[in-house]
Amino acid sequence: MKQRVLIIGACGQIGTELTLKLRQKYGVTNVIASDIKEGSASLMASGLFVKIDATNRMQILKVLQEYAITQVYMMAATLSATAERIPLKAWNINMTALLTVLELGKEGFYKQLFWPSSIGAFGPTSPRLKTPQNTIMTPSTVYGISKYSGEMWCQYYVNQYGLDVRTVRYPGIVSYKAEPGGGTTDYAVEIYFDALKKGAYTSFLSEETTLPMMYIDDAINATISLMAYPKLKEYKAYNISGISFNPKEIAASIRKKIPDFKMRYRPDFRQAIADSWPQSVDDSQAKADWHWQPQFDLEKITAIMLANCK
Ligand code: SER
Repeated sequence: MKQRVLIIGACGQIGTELTLKLRQKYGVTNVIASDIKEGSASLMASGLFVKIDATNRMQILKVLQEYAITQVYMMAATLSATAERIPLKAWNINMTALLTVLELGKEGFYKQLFWPSSIGAFGPTSPRLKTPQNTIMTPSTVYGISKYSGEMWCQYYVNQYGLDVRTVRYPGIVSYKAEPGGGTTDYAVEIYFDALKKGAYTSFLSEETTLPMMYIDDAINATISLMAYPKLKEYKAYNISGISFNPKEIAASIRKKIPDFKMRYRPDFRQAIADSWPQSVDDSQAKADWHWQPQFDLEKITAIMLANCK
């Protein structure tokens, strides 16, 4: 099917690479990037960009109509660590952005929506190892509450209005083209830049803090293949699993290439957020329903990151 795509939040860590990949897939003129501010030079040079506030219905509607958009990716969100500093503002941004595109979808202004959830939707009473697809959800962060509520809103629009909405629960994402902004898993990106620049890194999570993580190419592949999958029985916010590691393990993998690399630990408020999240998730449902398969392990990720984090 011919798609005309709008990415809202195209300049963020995931949005940047998603936009570049979708432009390869659907053609530059069929993929509109939008964000509240401009992104990296390579993203801005890659095709059309429109300034949009993700919470502004009129601005989004204008682009949907002007370009006859069929598919929307709502990637704009306030991440976990930032949201804890500005709870009500973060809630307002995350929920208004989602509900605005859900309403526009219900009104028929486009056909299919991707909206990302997160491992942050789980909470301290969820099982922490191989966290199942369906389990106790008691998020204890503002970000997690917005993700869990968002999942239920997406399900509501699918069931009540027949909108086609697709969701994965992203783990922490490792990438080098665009910086992550204000997440609890950001350490796993910063560490590579600091390893190359300073030969040392001070981690804001303790050494044994294991979290589910994923290389960006796997995340983009999951996103695009879920959206392209013909028919799904019902709405699910799919668990997807790449690998799990902790700061000590990522440091050890860096030391294989940079033997003198020094690691210090100074946990801050983000430790409590990480401690409320799973250490690994069970993604057998995604594997069964749309044949999800990750490709990148920690060794591969470290090799790529150390070659590119300049
Ligand atoms: N990477 C996100 C964060 O740390 C988790 O979805 O907030």
